[in-house]
Amino acid sequence: MANYTISVNGKDHQVDAAPDTPLLWVIRDELGYVGTKFGCGIGQCGACTVHIDGVAMRSCQQPISNIGEKGNKITTIEGLSENGEHPVQQAWLEHDVPQCGYCQAGQMMSAASLLNNIPNPTDEDINAGMAGNICRCGTYLRIHAAVKTAASKLS
Ligand code: FES
Ligand code: FES
Repeated sequence: MANYTISVNGKDHQVDAAPDTPLLWVIRDELGYVGTKFGCGIGQCGACTVHIDGVAMRSCQQPISNIGEKGNKITTIEGLSENGEHPVQQAWLEHDVPQCGYCQAGQMMSAASLLNNIPNPTDEDINAGMAGNICRCGTYLRIHAAVKTAASKLS
């Protein structure tokens, strides 16, 4: 076990954890940010997506030791906006995107990161940017439309 200081949603937290503990476990089990979901645990589904220094990353694949040593800033779905007013969240509501909802925090974090990089994405950009996020309910068409709406809100 070791002690790490990690910044999540603008707050520093002290955590005691084994160095290879995935960031996902820390943010859910230690810090209680349970919007971020466990899906596959092997970097294949995107349910655990958070922002690390503003870039969408799979938190199940990030050992806490790396985060603690680098002092990265972590943002989870709870920190994307204060009251759900981020354009991606608003667009998700307008398009009524979720079905079961399990994958959707990860989808929105990927979408927000995509739009940070490419404010006016083409269909191909959206397909490429969202390709790593699986939805077992098949909400892909609504996700695609919502990303476009979010882009229009941001421009
Ligand atoms: S739980 Fe991390 S990618 Fe699936
Ligand atoms: S809404 Fe059910 S897994 Fe995506």
